Amino acid sequence: MKLFLSITICFTLITSVNSQTKLGIFYKASSPTISRHIYGHFSEHLGRCIYDGFWVSDTSTLARKDRIRLDIVDALKKIKIPNLRWPGGCFADEYHWRDGIGPRAQRPKMINTTWGNVTEDNSFGTHEFLELCQLLGTEPVITGNVGSGTVEEMNKWVEYLNFDGLSPSTELRKQNGHPAPWKVQFWGVGNESWGCGGNMTPEYYADQYRRYATFCKDYPNARLNKIAGGASDWDFNWTETIMKRVPAYMMWGLSLHYYTLPGNWDKKGSATKFEEKEYFTTMSKCLKMDELVTKHSTIMDKYDPAKKVSLVIDEWGIWTDVEPGTNPAFLFQQNSLRDALIAGSTLNIFNNHSDRVRMANLAQTINVLQALILTKGNQLLLTPTYHVFDMYKVHQDAKLLPVNFTSPEYKVGDQSIPAINVSASQDANGAIHISLVNLDANNDITIRSSLYDLNWKSVEGQILHANSFTSYNSFEQPGVVKPAVFNGAKKEGNDLVITIPKLSVVVLELK
Ligand code: AHR
Repeated sequence: MKLFLSITICFTLITSVNSQTKLGIFYKASSPTISRHIYGHFSEHLGRCIYDGFWVSDTSTLARKDRIRLDIVDALKKIKIPNLRWPGGCFADEYHWRDGIGPRAQRPKMINTTWGNVTEDNSFGTHEFLELCQLLGTEPVITGNVGSGTVEEMNKWVEYLNFDGLSPSTELRKQNGHPAPWKVQFWGVGNESWGCGGNMTPEYYADQYRRYATFCKDYPNARLNKIAGGASDWDFNWTETIMKRVPAYMMWGLSLHYYTLPGNWDKKGSATKFEEKEYFTTMSKCLKMDELVTKHSTIMDKYDPAKKVSLVIDEWGIWTDVEPGTNPAFLFQQNSLRDALIAGSTLNIFNNHSDRVRMANLAQTINVLQALILTKGNQLLLTPTYHVFDMYKVHQDAKLLPVNFTSPEYKVGDQSIPAINVSASQDANGAIHISLVNLDANNDITIRSSLYDLNWKSVEGQILHANSFTSYNSFEQPGVVKPAVFNGAKKEGNDLVITIPKLSVVVLELK
């Protein structure tokens, strides 16, 4: 009651002062922990994400373990990558895991029909992916094949991965050089089953999910967190049907996919050449993630009021036209400051919904869609999006601090969106982190913040900013968009006053 009263008084104080934008940040004992798995990534057999991305030729002169590029491993370890989703995406529903184990020379080849009909040589399979995860110190998230696979195939894959006893699968695993089970924790049961994963109705998929999930077994000390294939965008009927037909105890999570398209599916728009109007439209579409998460969560609440089932946004990010001259099926796009603003805003949304959102995966890690890393031969380039994940890693597994905030508007023509978005957390050592994004292309914005019951003495920060929303890093100029020390925040009495430059992502640390 005391906390409720103090929050109410604080809210009243905030809204009564109009002269300057006010931000209230609170400690609330019951608020959730921000799962580190919100900061997860996605690596599909698509274009140059795995092949010529993580996995290079055996004649490469790069530092590598087997054929895994170690410079990439180091870069992803730096941002504390919490999980990596594999092997798809659409590819997952045509992937047969048995083709990707055993001596590489004897592995059958297949056609990757979704992504350019290229030959998949299966040299990167189960063992290689799990070796990569081990090097990264990250949790694997494996998506099993419902669309063109069988229950037996999925059942045996789980047994091969997680069972410690004697069985034909575990004997095979031993023969293939891995006596101990990997104890994979996160398991997707199909992908986009409404589309490339089988064009199923939600009713049919719900039944299939129940059947497949029944045979994805928990083994001793290897409990499987199963993720049901969820909706795309505004398909609330999909979420409703799955929640209605699948008991909550059978799912650890239910997924949702949402991509931000500057244009439409026929003409998505360039990754680096656009004007303010298109920038504004893109950002307003990106912010729709908040409404989507809210509405899908509300449906989930009806069937699962205790919020046991996680909402897993296992594909998100900006999807533009490919770079001119590249294979259209490889989805290779550049990454500008606009991408960083999308990443920062979306992660703020996920943090603020961390009571239900407990996992998310940006699409995709290397050379595909909104990538963290681009490669060209032996060169490696960190994108603006990479830097956001580096700056935001402080929120991983920290306690969410609720905020009360009404942003000034960023207007273009007769439309407007909130200029600033924010989230805050407190880590196990008591340090407070506040991440703020200013989407306004023309105005710096000053905010006065009160932290009420939270104690702090000093503030420091980092900023990601560049001249234009189209600014990007290239192999020739890799440091155009990179973090710098931020001096725009100061303590005034008990208040924190922050001036956030236009088009910037700022992360503050208060101690
Ligand atoms: O991330 C690219 C593709 O987008 C994935 O394979 C699919 O799941 C989605 O449609």
